[in-house]
Amino acid sequence: MRPVHRWVWADADRRLRKLLTFAKVETDGGRDILRAAEVTPDPLLRRLYLEHAIDELRHGDLFRERGAALLRARGPRRTRLFSGNPLPGGHGLDDLRIDGEPDHRLLAFLHVAEKAAASRFTIYRELVDDDPETRAIFEHILRDEVFHMNYTYTQLTRIAPGRHRRHVWHARAKRLWNRYLRVAAAVASVFGAAMLSAIYFIVLPPFAWFARRAERRDPPGWTPARRADAVPPRSQY
Ligand SMILES: [Fe+2]
Ligand SMILES: [Fe+2]
Repeated sequence: MRPVHRWVWADADRRLRKLLTFAKVETDGGRDILRAAEVTPDPLLRRLYLEHAIDELRHGDLFRERGAALLRARGPRRTRLFSGNPLPGGHGLDDLRIDGEPDHRLLAFLHVAEKAAASRFTIYRELVDDDPETRAIFEHILRDEVFHMNYTYTQLTRIAPGRHRRHVWHARAKRLWNRYLRVAAAVASVFGAAMLSAIYFIVLPPFAWFARRAERRDPPGWTPARRADAVPPRSQY
């Protein structure tokens, strides 16, 4: 995926959108982990979740501020075609569910998401070499993500000794399935749009043509019914 990442980060508009998307994902993830700190019965996990949530909320602020600075520097400009982002955010915390999830499942999910984020941010850090300020943000965040990746695994082995590997594999499979669903939904949306366009331009025109022809044949104004047994009304009752 490196050439696609390179393509995304090479353009100023796409870079800006990507940073603002990260800001949203990190902030939402931070709020969810804050909720996890509220509901966990484990005091050590509560403290760690709280620190984790503060980190993610700070990441969101860093991305948002950098995005805003780039937006100010860029000024108003028309959005280009293909300025969107074909790849999901680096973190994957947007798939997070808290309520009703036991800590072992949450830790496994967080471990997998943080590991993915660490590897993505390592690539992004190299791709923004021309922008030292954005690169510094990635370096800073990368250190936090590595810490998150490690503490979640350590805590998972503490609360689920012997079963931690199975939980991690299960989280990986679930993440993969969610990614597949997203891709499938995107492909279905493209196919749906193509099918509706085809119906609009190929199937509807003959009906429009018949309707116009029928309209031309119809005399203008009101036409009385030509039924043989029709008796004209004498009163409205
Ligand atoms: Fe983060
Ligand atoms: Fe993180």
